[in-house]
Amino acid sequence: MAKKCEFKSLPDSNLERRRNLSFDFLYPEFEVPKYLKEFAQGKKYFIFTFGCQANHRDSEIMGGLLEKAGFSQTFSEKDADLIILNTCAVRENAEQKVFGKIGNLLHLKKSKPELLIGVCGCMVQQKHIIEYINEKFKHVDLIFGTHNSTDLLLLLNDVITKRIRLIDVKSIPGDIVENLPSSRESKFKAFVNISYGCDKFCTYCIVPYTRGKERSRKMKDILDEVQELKNNSYKEVTLLGQNVNAYGKDFNDGTTFAKLLEEVAKIGIPRVRFLTSHPWDFSSELIEVIAKYDNIMKYIHLPVQSGSDEILHLMGRRYTRDQYIALAKEIKTKIPDVALTTDIIVGFPNETYEQFLDTVSLCREVHYDSAFTFIYSPRNNTPAAKIKDNVPSAEKVKRFKELVKALEEDITKHSENMIGKVYDILVEGPSEKNPEMLSGYTEKNKLVHFKGGINLVGQIVKVKILESHTYSMIGELVNE
Ligand code: 5AD
Ligand code: SF4
Repeated sequence: MAKKCEFKSLPDSNLERRRNLSFDFLYPEFEVPKYLKEFAQGKKYFIFTFGCQANHRDSEIMGGLLEKAGFSQTFSEKDADLIILNTCAVRENAEQKVFGKIGNLLHLKKSKPELLIGVCGCMVQQKHIIEYINEKFKHVDLIFGTHNSTDLLLLLNDVITKRIRLIDVKSIPGDIVENLPSSRESKFKAFVNISYGCDKFCTYCIVPYTRGKERSRKMKDILDEVQELKNNSYKEVTLLGQNVNAYGKDFNDGTTFAKLLEEVAKIGIPRVRFLTSHPWDFSSELIEVIAKYDNIMKYIHLPVQSGSDEILHLMGRRYTRDQYIALAKEIKTKIPDVALTTDIIVGFPNETYEQFLDTVSLCREVHYDSAFTFIYSPRNNTPAAKIKDNVPSAEKVKRFKELVKALEEDITKHSENMIGKVYDILVEGPSEKNPEMLSGYTEKNKLVHFKGGINLVGQIVKVKILESHTYSMIGELVNE
């Protein structure tokens, strides 16, 4: 018999829009519910993460919480006693992948009825998705949202002790919870959250609703976390926020991202990165800090989304094509040899072919080192989704391919320029395609494969580039 379902809270799109709701900074003493502690003994968890780095970081924290309770990690679904899917809602195809995955887990649950399945993350911040999962996938035991993922142990305890299915998805901005345990994916590269949520409300984007109001972590808490990573010999740290440049604005005391970045750089981890920058908030002060510190990577991801002023206006991006190009030029002048990358959306509602060509010409002017390109995907309750669209999807696919081709010309040139030069590579591990080779990234995030001993994993080594394959390079170790 199916378990009873308790609806503790459901997302509310009116609340998600509001920005005047308050939140707290919490430094809780950590306690595992007693029953859960007994339950977790000898049991294994598996977290499947979809989407962006923020989700990966949330999964690391959920993993840390579960390990405190006594669960251990497995990477095999079949071995798991608890499977959590941490989901992404940014485009429809991301959601389809999650539904496919949930459906696939049914056979596992049938062969192992005591298996617990949880679904969390951005996708379930939408009421219609919860209704769909609840109707179609009764094998899901727990649904919780982005604002209460740090309550995971309490939620699980309820599911187990009350023998219920539980849905608890909040829409108020989550408190900033510090002192949480975490099980990091890597022993040498780390993500560090600096802010949560987004207040930009680009008209196509669901993130301001699913992740809520923009909230900055206190600078001291961020610096303490980076210092601890340094003490543990981490080689790279990436500061994370939906819009890192807005960091500190909510404190109203003059705190800026530039100041935070400078303090992080001074701690001395060899590689400091940050993601993602909105062109609107990118200050000259920030450009100067990036130029000044050798350990801040000269790699800037600067989403443009479109090269047409009309489309940028409809997207609510708050800058013009000329302002973006001027910013790119200022960055390139003050940080010679910087790598610029971007995100672009093709086929925004009613985009004309001429407006699309404005995007292509902007790319040819900026000469991106790399780019993520997406076909526009309408998202429930966003302003853009209400616009009636007259562009056929076949036309959008055609434009998408045309843009990728134009971008690849520049990307290939950048890659070919690397041949014969020596680069510092942070070694990730054996190459996915050829385990005989190692893979790693340059300071500017180019993927390089080369032969070397497994003892080099986690080290920064010098590699000479021999061949270019547009998105990855082949090289050889240089003995110093
Ligand atoms: N459709 C297509 N792409 C989108 N992105 C965000 N929302 C949408 C959408 N509705 C893209 C943007 C953003 C990246 C993370 O995802 O380019 O920068
Ligand atoms: Fe979405 Fe725009 Fe915020 Fe980025 S800045 S998360 S695209 S609303």
